[in-house]
Amino acid sequence: MNNQTAQFLQGKFPVLLSAEKIRQRIQELGRQLSQDYAGKKPVFIGVLNGGYMFMSDLMREITIDCEVDFIKISSYGEAMQTTGVVKIKKDIDAHLEGRHVVVVEDIIDSGLSVNYLAERLNALAPQSLKFVALLVKDGGKQVEYTCDYVGFHIPTRFVVGYGMDYAQLFRNLPQVYVME
Ligand code: IMP
Ligand code: MG
Repeated sequence: MNNQTAQFLQGKFPVLLSAEKIRQRIQELGRQLSQDYAGKKPVFIGVLNGGYMFMSDLMREITIDCEVDFIKISSYGEAMQTTGVVKIKKDIDAHLEGRHVVVVEDIIDSGLSVNYLAERLNALAPQSLKFVALLVKDGGKQVEYTCDYVGFHIPTRFVVGYGMDYAQLFRNLPQVYVME
């Protein structure tokens, strides 16, 4: 039996961000967001699938009234690079008009996904729209975008774990590993 997940857990691939480092940074982000959105009852929108673990840990650090919703998009297919086409797989349910909206992303590479989301969500007339990403690959940028809260800037390498996959595997790993 070939358990690739075990190879990561047994240290065959380098850890880029440990569970502890991720936990500490998310605590800081949660504190910052709770301050910045005090009294505003924001709607947090997690981007599936990659953002599920970050979203879930980040929400536990939010100490103000807020709503939680999800949107599912895809752009990578089974590859390590964007296909350049972003598709909606599951739309949001929350009513965003006049609301303070915060989109929670796992990782920004080319910027195509956040750009697409910004356009689509801005069309729903929120009072404000901001983006949080756990990771940003600065070297991957193909289009201009804004990300208001960043967990970590990382080198342009393909990473897995903590929600992020390669061909749908390794989302369950508790830390971020470099795949290549
Ligand atoms: P972008 O549209 O190129 O910015 O890519 C954004 C999406 O691609 C992210 O939300 C991830 O789901 C996925 N992605 C980008 N880089 C990686 C990676 O290194 N590992 C796993 N998924 C990635
Ligand atoms: Mg994603």
